[in-house]
Amino acid sequence: MNVLSKPADLEAAAPAGAFIQEVTSVQHYTDHLFKFRMTRPASFRFRSGEFVMIGLMIDGKPLYRAYSIASPSWDEELEFFSIKVPDGPLTQYLQKVQPGDAVLMKKKPTGTLVNDALVPGKRVYMFSTGTGLAPFASLIRDPDTYEKFDEVIVTHTCRQVEELRYGLDLVEATKNDPLIGELAAEKLKHFTSVTREDYPVKGRITDLIENGRLFEELGVPPLDPAIDRGMICGSMDMLRDTKAILEKAGLHEGANNKPAEFVVERAFVG
Ligand code: A2P
Repeated sequence: MNVLSKPADLEAAAPAGAFIQEVTSVQHYTDHLFKFRMTRPASFRFRSGEFVMIGLMIDGKPLYRAYSIASPSWDEELEFFSIKVPDGPLTQYLQKVQPGDAVLMKKKPTGTLVNDALVPGKRVYMFSTGTGLAPFASLIRDPDTYEKFDEVIVTHTCRQVEELRYGLDLVEATKNDPLIGELAAEKLKHFTSVTREDYPVKGRITDLIENGRLFEELGVPPLDPAIDRGMICGSMDMLRDTKAILEKAGLHEGANNKPAEFVVERAFVG
C-alpha cells in the first residue's frame, strides 16, 4: 500500500477540488479512539454540528470517509474525533498521521445536527455514543447554542470508562474557555454512562431514558415536547432506538428545510 501523507506528495497527486490541510496535533485516547487537529482553509465555512469528507491518497486513489467536525465554527483550526479500526480502509492509515502530515478534505460541509434544524425550546439534549460525541463537541463550543437554549445536556455513553476521556476533557476545557466558559458553566450539563464496566451510572442511554434514571440524575422532568429538543448521534441501532423513544414522547423529527423538535445524524459512519 502506498499512502501519501506528506504535503508535497499530496500537492502533486491529489484530485482537483479537495483541500490539502496540515495536521497540527494528534492525541490518542485508547486502542481505538484518537483526536486530530488540522489547519483550516481560509475560505472554508461550516455550521457547528456539520460533517465533511476527510481522506488520504491510497494507492493512487483518494479514499474519503464522513467526519463530523468536532471544533466550533469560530475556531481557527479543525478538530476531528475518530475511531481506529485495525483493518479499516481509511482509519488504519489515518490513525498513523503525525503533526506535519497532510490530509485531504472535500470542500462542502453538510449535516442535519445543526441548531437551525430545531424549533426554539428551553432544553436541548444531545444524545451520543462512542465517537458520536463529535458534532456535539462542536455545538457545545458555539455561543449560538447557548443563545438558543437555557439548558444544554450532552449525554455520552461508551462501553468502557476510558472512552469517556475525550468528552470529560472537552467539557472541562469548554467551561474554562475565555469565549464561552461563562455560558457553558451556567448552562452545560454532561451526563456520562458506561455499559460494559463498573461506573457510577451503568447502562444504555435508551434504558436510562425509559427507566427515568437520566432525569433523576439531572434533576429535570421527563421529556416534554413543548420545551425539550433532541439531537442524536451514534451507531445505526442507537439512532433508531433513541429516535423511537423521542417520538413516543411526542417529539417530531426535523430537517434543515423543516425544523422540528429533534434531529438525527444522517451520515454518521462509525
Ligand atoms: P452496549 O455495550 O450495551 O452494546 P458501539 O461501539 O457498539 O457503537 O457502542 C457504543 C455504546 O452504545 C455502547 O455503550 C453500547 O452499549 C451503546 N449502544 C449500542 N447499541 C445501542 C442501542 N441500540 N441503543 C442505545 N445504546 C446502544
